[in-house]
Amino acid sequence: MRTIADSVVVGIGKGGSCKTTLATQLSGIWASEGKRVLLADLDMQASASKVVGLDPAQHGEGRHLMDAIMYGDELVTVKARDYLDVVVAGRHTKTLSNHLVTAGDPADSFALPFEKLMASGRFDRLVFDLPPSGSSRLADMAMQTSKYLLVPTSSGVDNIEGLRVLAGELEELDSNILLLGVVMMKISAAAPRKRAETRQEVAEILAGVADPFHTIIREAGSAYDDSRKAGLFLHEYAQWASTVSVTQQIRGKVKIPANLRDLAREFYELADEVDDRIALAEQLLAGGR
Ligand SMILES: Nc1ncnc2c1ncn2[C@@H]1O[C@H](COP(=O)(O)OP(=O)(O)O)[C@@H](O)[C@H]1O
Ligand SMILES: [Mg+2]
Repeated sequence: MRTIADSVVVGIGKGGSCKTTLATQLSGIWASEGKRVLLADLDMQASASKVVGLDPAQHGEGRHLMDAIMYGDELVTVKARDYLDVVVAGRHTKTLSNHLVTAGDPADSFALPFEKLMASGRFDRLVFDLPPSGSSRLADMAMQTSKYLLVPTSSGVDNIEGLRVLAGELEELDSNILLLGVVMMKISAAAPRKRAETRQEVAEILAGVADPFHTIIREAGSAYDDSRKAGLFLHEYAQWASTVSVTQQIRGKVKIPANLRDLAREFYELADEVDDRIALAEQLLAGGR
């Protein structure tokens, strides 16, 4: 079994469960702090590529990863920000995923180009953004060969049920992947009891598997959508908002969502928490050798 160094996969969960939101915002924050991040988009919808401002049509539509895995080419990455490169997805991502269904050693073929890149020392962390669960061979391969797993969840019966399935699936998976934790997302900040209940429920389901992260990402749809429209990460948008003068705001020239700062702060806190858990896991793994 092989494991790609410093790789974190964000996955498990249906569409709209915030996988891409989590993968992109964390990647953006880590890069802004000087970590050299490679964000690999494995979803043919290319949402992560688009969130970071890259047009798949201008960057090969997923051809780069396909050529690397199928033909042994060097994996091409596209710069999105300082310290942030992206493996862009697109329609070829589907071709690649189908190819892996019949490939001889799909996990090896998948991992090799990423292992080479990580061994080159160009990147400190590799983040995979996955398509919805069960929909792609590429997602399975990323789960099999990544070191760490982050799972977003929201409140609501379906999501909580999904977590129960997850706990079982992890046991069956032919992989060394370590669940860093579950991130509760899109939870209303105005309902502290609901927040506490959700936290409790998640903790119980995952008892003995992983602790939920302390940080909860609040529901703030319009703040998130505004940052997307501006083409910025939340932390970038919050920084920009802090430069808008009070006069401009009072005159209504610029409208800044009230909860933007809180939302951005929560992602910073979460990024720190994830860093801490990775550091701890690395220590334990090094000690256990
Ligand atoms: N903090 C938030 N509050 C409310 N809605 C959010 C928040 N963050 C993201 N969203 C919305 O939730 C959805 C998450 O989508 P996405 O991250 O693409 O999910 P997935 O990758 O799992 O399919 C998007 O429609 C986005 O607008
Ligand atoms: Mg997605």
